[in-house]
Amino acid sequence: MKFENAKWIIHPENKLYEPVRFSKELSFSKPIKRAVFNITSLGCYYAMINGERVGDFIFAPGFTSRKRVQYQSYDVTSMIGNNCFIEVIISEGWYKGKINFGADEGGPEKKKALIAELEITFIDGEKKVISTDEAWFAQKDKLRMAELYDGETVDMLFEDRRVPVKILDHGKKMIVKQQGAFVKEQEIIEPVSVFKAPNGDTIVDFGQNLTGYFEFEAMAQAGDRVEFTVCEELDKYGNFYNENYRDAKARFEYICHEGYNKYKPILAFWGFRYIRVDSFPCEITSKNIRAIVVHSQMKRTGYLESSSPLLNKLFSNIIWGQRGNFLDVPTDCPQRDERQGWTGDATVFCKTASYNYDVEKFFEKWLTDLRLDQGEKGNIPNIIPQTICWDWSTTDKTGAVWGDSATIIPYQMYLTYGNRDILKKQFSCMKKYIGYIERSTTAKYLWTGCDQFGDWLGLDAPEGSYRGSSNEDFIASVFYAHSVGIVVKSGKILNKNVDKYEKLHYNINRKIKETFKEYKTQTECVLALYFDVATDREATAKSLAQMIIDNGNRLQTGFVGTPFLLYALSQNGYSELAYDLLLQEKFPSWLYSVKQGATTIWEHWDGKNEKGEFWSKNMNSFNHYAYGSVGGWVYEEACGIHTVEEKPGFEEVLISPIPTDKLDSLSATIETKYGKIQSKWYHKDGKVHYFVETPVKSTVIIDGKRYIVEKGTYTF
Ligand code: BGC
Repeated sequence: MKFENAKWIIHPENKLYEPVRFSKELSFSKPIKRAVFNITSLGCYYAMINGERVGDFIFAPGFTSRKRVQYQSYDVTSMIGNNCFIEVIISEGWYKGKINFGADEGGPEKKKALIAELEITFIDGEKKVISTDEAWFAQKDKLRMAELYDGETVDMLFEDRRVPVKILDHGKKMIVKQQGAFVKEQEIIEPVSVFKAPNGDTIVDFGQNLTGYFEFEAMAQAGDRVEFTVCEELDKYGNFYNENYRDAKARFEYICHEGYNKYKPILAFWGFRYIRVDSFPCEITSKNIRAIVVHSQMKRTGYLESSSPLLNKLFSNIIWGQRGNFLDVPTDCPQRDERQGWTGDATVFCKTASYNYDVEKFFEKWLTDLRLDQGEKGNIPNIIPQTICWDWSTTDKTGAVWGDSATIIPYQMYLTYGNRDILKKQFSCMKKYIGYIERSTTAKYLWTGCDQFGDWLGLDAPEGSYRGSSNEDFIASVFYAHSVGIVVKSGKILNKNVDKYEKLHYNINRKIKETFKEYKTQTECVLALYFDVATDREATAKSLAQMIIDNGNRLQTGFVGTPFLLYALSQNGYSELAYDLLLQEKFPSWLYSVKQGATTIWEHWDGKNEKGEFWSKNMNSFNHYAYGSVGGWVYEEACGIHTVEEKPGFEEVLISPIPTDKLDSLSATIETKYGKIQSKWYHKDGKVHYFVETPVKSTVIIDGKRYIVEKGTYTF
């Protein structure tokens, strides 16, 4: 059993946001064959043996439900000699950091803590385990402050004496094996420029809004200071602007030692494109500072490419939106005082995410946390993992779409990766969630009368509201039906009896059609069409098209309508209008943000207006992936690569591209378990040419003609 004799240890003072360094010196009198270091913490740790970092998992042990904490095992054989000095620095991280909004600060026993053991096997076969206990030491660290929202403060001149640790009585049942993908450093980005802003500030521009940290080098005198503040956007005058970070200080402060200083933060991350250099001991140039991109380890699998540079930039922004927000959990944004696992955002983006990258392991872990944090009544907290401040586990608040993460995400993992196991693990959570809706609604067979997020950030929102004006009972009921539909399909896949849910599904659909006969907004039309509850499909599609045309070929949809908008058009005879929206450059549109210089996906269509003025400082992230869900449409409809429900995971494929004259070419590639799928179309000599590569048996539909093809490459 792991950690059998290990004890949780803390610094006797254990002050909030003040990192602690634990240490233990060991020496061995005979040669070692193998050494394994098992470790976890309440808070994030950075471990070293003989001064060298152990492993490359950044922000270990990760962000999980408070009901569990993952431990990691590192093979450290090569790091150990006769002497071994173990040091571990710990900060509050997600466990007690401000992400909990200061809730429940409690005494020292409620803050960061470490538990670890070193398993040694000697060459002669003897085994020994050295565990954290009373004989370890604690001290305050040169890292004086580390907090995910606020940043890091380092004092290289600081020294503290070691004191014996205190033991924390915390139990060990919640310690589980590492389940998620490791968060790792992914890429180094050099500055594109270092310049003086009109107001005199020195600014480093990395040319890309990214998530991670930076590394600098400087010759300094002891006591010289390095001070940085970060931002995503410059204001209309070209000056530094980070009011949209709200209460996240997003700072870095460092007191130099004498001579050569080289440092990169270890227990904080920032979402940023620019660094304002508030203090630096020498001239800062593109040679002595660089950015380091950090996110969960996931293999890139999807690629989109077109003949339009603007569209290609949008595709790149979608990828960067994912890279910036898949940091152990799918976050809403990486910069302001939020960075929570908002379920709705993940729900609408999970399909695109699963084509762009292999996120099977990533979501498997997060869905386990969703299961663990599901409320007693079956409700799904709107953020997973549940942080202390927003305790939705016992209250009734679950928004439609946000709560439907419980059904939609596991089912998407099934479709993209053929993972039946996820369905099996999540099935009872799905059913409990349906039970919650059944009990909380005010009208049988609908989901009504509950507090909802509605079509979040829809542009048709009444003045001063974040919620678009689409009927919230309609939205909730449609997703209720959709989730019950997923329970039916999942149950059948798992050989369960789902008669009850089939009846329920039938009744909800019937009741929706009886109750909601008119669709007054773009999002209402979109949902009626996409989820097949429109009383008159043709008329609804026509009215959606008319609303868009009347709005100057422009959308008005928010988080709920947008992911399905182009599908609702292209699947109902309006693919040209879908392309008009995709290629629209005027506000509001995807390419509007690109033309405004976006390098990621914005939270708001109107994050920044044409004059370069910001929408608000309150909720204005420039790295929020939800609207990047349009990538899904490009893979599936425009290039036509569809999963087949009966043969999930791309065991079979349906390829039915929709070309347009508005683009010269468009191509999508997905690396699947079976190999590479590519669908490309292009115009040449007045004709549309198609290229298809498939690793498996596929149905290809071109111009309404159906071809059944085996593995291979084809042109049409
Ligand atoms: C987040 C969103 C989230 C929403 C829900 C916001 O603060 O940033 O992305 O889904 O709240 O209301």
